[in-house]
Amino acid sequence: MIVPREPQTPASVADHYDELDPFYREIWGEHVHHGLWATGLETPDQAVEGLIAHLADTLALETGQHVCDIGCGYGATAEWLAAQYGTHVTGVTLSSAQLRQAEKRAAQSPLLHFIRQDWLANTFPDGIFDHVYAIESSEHMPDKQRFFDEAYRTLRPGGRLAVYAWLAREKAGAWEERLLLEPICREGRLAGLGTVPEYRDWAEKAGFKVDGIENLSAKVKRTWTLCSGRVARKLLTRAEYRRYLLNAHSRNRVFALSLPRIWLAYTTGSMVYGLLTAHKPSSLA
Ligand SMILES: C[S@@+](CC[C@H](N)C(=O)[O-])C[C@H]1O[C@@H](n2cnc3c(N)ncnc32)[C@H](O)[C@@H]1O
Repeated sequence: MIVPREPQTPASVADHYDELDPFYREIWGEHVHHGLWATGLETPDQAVEGLIAHLADTLALETGQHVCDIGCGYGATAEWLAAQYGTHVTGVTLSSAQLRQAEKRAAQSPLLHFIRQDWLANTFPDGIFDHVYAIESSEHMPDKQRFFDEAYRTLRPGGRLAVYAWLAREKAGAWEERLLLEPICREGRLAGLGTVPEYRDWAEKAGFKVDGIENLSAKVKRTWTLCSGRVARKLLTRAEYRRYLLNAHSRNRVFALSLPRIWLAYTTGSMVYGLLTAHKPSSLA
């Protein structure tokens, strides 16, 4: 696993999303995840929705099921799933700023419930969820084994898990680690970037049967061209963006450096965007 030279904590992750909240909502919108271009012809909004439609297919959601969104951001994915499938979604986030937006969604739908909690120290009872998913949150967690152990514990037997994750190339070279992967971790408050075999291993050690790990890098990479363009335009047209970047007290301004770095890491294959799907066996027999 690639780890940042400054260890990340739940507090530093929460601070990242709280301080950057206005920028995230303007640049990414309410979905803080990649878009998925299945045909290549989708608009950016269609691509963002495409990723959660892909998730819904993967989980084979049914009306009335109870699902957990680990690292739910602003709750937009949960809202979409509840509206399209009639599923109950419980979302957890570390960020107060995100929770405030998510709670506005919950006020409009009895199917939605959000809390601010560290997944690695969650208080959910055993076997409470039909399905569990994480979109780009496991990277922030230092103890990946516990991430999977908790997913396994809170899932009912037969329940499915879907994890969309930023991953590091297996056996990344020294230059990739130094110039791309370590800085990406540090600048984005990622506690660690695991590899495909590591994710498989953690899932299996937790007790899951892994159904597959799909490499979606080519279908999501365009996200970073779009985001870099949006940030560049804001910097040219909006003084508060320039002030934030030039202010030495802006604790998370370093994240701006990651935008071109991530694009480059996908281009070189140093970083991979993967979907791990797994299920909790129905019986121990
Ligand atoms: C890149 S955002 C993705 C948000 C959301 N899944 C989406 O796709 O819009 C990462 C999310 O993971 C959450 N997160 C990171 N570490 C967490 C932890 N230990 N427990 C709960 N949430 C966590 C953050 O609070 C944030 O909401």
